[in-house]
Amino acid sequence: MEHTIYRGLEGVHIDTTQICRIDGLKGELIYRGYDIRELADKVSFEEVIYLLWHDDLPNAAQLEAFKTELRPHFAVPDAIFNLMREYPKTVHPMHVIQSAVSILAAFDDQADDIGLDNVRRIGAQLVAKFPTIVAGFERVRQGKEPIAPHPDLGIAANFLYMLTGETPSEAATRVMDVALVLHAEHGSNASAFIARATASTLTDVYSAISAAVGSLKGPLHGGANAAVMKALEQIDSVANVEGYVLDTLAKPAGRVMGFGHRVYRVLDPRAIILKGVSHQLAEESGDSKWFDMSLEMERVMEREMEKKGRQVKPNVDFFSASVYRMLGFPGDMYTPIFAVSRISGWMAHLYEQYADNRIMRPRLIYEGPVGRKFKPLAER
Ligand SMILES: CC(C)(COP(=O)(O)OP(=O)(O)OC[C@H]1O[C@@H](n2cnc3c(N)ncnc32)[C@H](O)[C@@H]1OP(=O)(O)O)[C@@H](O)C(=O)NCCC(=O)NCCS
Repeated sequence: MEHTIYRGLEGVHIDTTQICRIDGLKGELIYRGYDIRELADKVSFEEVIYLLWHDDLPNAAQLEAFKTELRPHFAVPDAIFNLMREYPKTVHPMHVIQSAVSILAAFDDQADDIGLDNVRRIGAQLVAKFPTIVAGFERVRQGKEPIAPHPDLGIAANFLYMLTGETPSEAATRVMDVALVLHAEHGSNASAFIARATASTLTDVYSAISAAVGSLKGPLHGGANAAVMKALEQIDSVANVEGYVLDTLAKPAGRVMGFGHRVYRVLDPRAIILKGVSHQLAEESGDSKWFDMSLEMERVMEREMEKKGRQVKPNVDFFSASVYRMLGFPGDMYTPIFAVSRISGWMAHLYEQYADNRIMRPRLIYEGPVGRKFKPLAER
């Protein structure tokens, strides 16, 4: 029998969704009908979470009620910090998030209830706790005490506050908010798919989310932002960029991190916004090294990809690397920051998946041997 194989599930639609639409030919991304460019410009991360979890943006009263609902959930159990203190300092922070999610399940006696109200309750817990976990681990691995969340600050400002204990400037908070808004949701990407596929067995939210965190960590997905920074650090100057790109492309299956996308054939709209943010931070700080190197890499890649007839453009992870660097974050925290944002999108997908579930069960075409003659152990 003839079977079609869709490697990497390219072109496969697993369901319908109300959450997000990507037009890869126009370079358009909408969350529930709203253009990402307008959202990045005008709303806070909390408004976007509300939008992803409901039908529309909140009005002022709904937003206030939502913030009030989240506030008590910012704190995390001491057990999470105690375990962090035992970890080797070299552990990847994404492993720390994954284990923290499992510990949160252990502390939740309703963890296995996948009724919609309970799933929403857990969603509010996780979206509020992720920044505390990521910032707390950064403190713990520096031998410092975690800083308790500030009751008067929103998620973006609180994240920055919990790293240093200082109330962040409005400008830094705004950049953080923009980054969180841009990374919140992106359709059936690998980690959202993994969250949905895991939930499709009707397992619990914590299991689905820890699987998604593991998926996001990979360098072809959310791990790309850290890989971009690693490359920029290795290259170290604008003059070395061209040689690096050409050497990388000359290798078999060589990939320049932060470029290319399964869906976009034109520039990712999130990359355009982050490029602007990166430029602005470079101008404000008077140190444009990382931005200039990024621009040069974009220029060389554009030329080289055009020669190959490939439409491989910068993606969201490319300019987020220089933005996070200029905000002072260590490289291995870039992907965890992605998770701090994307937990909102994953939860939106779980609401849809649990509400109308069918188990995900694709197939493989077996090409191994058949009809082998069995030999007892003594004869093998
Ligand atoms: C994102 C990504 C995994 C998409 O993968 P995909 O849809 O399976 O696309 P492919 O890997 O098949 O790439 C298609 C073609 O573009 C080229 N290409 C894609 N991304 C490239 C990159 N980053 N550098 C160089 N070439 C690239 C491939 O060489 C391939 O050409 P080929 O068929 O001649 O080998 C891929 O572009 C990639 O590895 N990018 C780098 C990692 C990254 O930034 N990930 C974050 C995504 S938001």
